[in-house]
Amino acid sequence: MLSPFLSGVRTLSFGDSMPLLCHILAAAFLQLFIVSGNRILAKNINFYNVRLPVDPTPFPSSFKCFTCDNVVDNYNCNRWAEDKWCPPNTQYCLTVHHFTNHGKSTSVTKSCATREECRFVGCRRHREATYTECISCCEGMICNVDIPTNHTNAIFAVVHARRTSGSSTRAASLPLLALVIVIFMQ
Ligand SMILES: *[C@@H]1O[C@H](CO)[C@@H](O)[C@H](O)[C@H]1NC(C)=O
Repeated sequence: MLSPFLSGVRTLSFGDSMPLLCHILAAAFLQLFIVSGNRILAKNINFYNVRLPVDPTPFPSSFKCFTCDNVVDNYNCNRWAEDKWCPPNTQYCLTVHHFTNHGKSTSVTKSCATREECRFVGCRRHREATYTECISCCEGMICNVDIPTNHTNAIFAVVHARRTSGSSTRAASLPLLALVIVIFMQ
């Protein structure tokens, strides 16, 4: 005789809180829409499944770059790159790559950069030294995964499409909305 009593209580409280529940759901959906919209901006860049940071962003439009100083090759740069936010005066990720005539990397340097520092993108053969230097810049969260090796990839790559279509934003929100509904209906 206990279970009909419990289900009656449950139905009653659920019915009373219906308008409140609708308000909570609407607010939650709005928030999720905004959050997922911001995540879409970062998704424009292919960063090879590097996890998005879970720590809170220190300021609006903050981002991260792979960061290393004069490391022997790209693998060792990315593998041990420091994971920290770029300072507010920077907008891009810079990569400097030195390699021999045989294409063997001798030095990889990656950092956050200002527009000014990105002026020197391109490849230059150093006359005395026996290496070529290629410099590239890119815009976006952890965008400097690869190293420049020739004039086609030693470029300044900026993100033109800041907004993606509403359909992909909605697609990202739907599973989250479903999750919220499941949680609130428990
Ligand atoms: C430039 O380098 C990339 C990556 O190493 C390569 O796929 C591409 O074919 C190269 N392009 C030219 C023009 O050499």
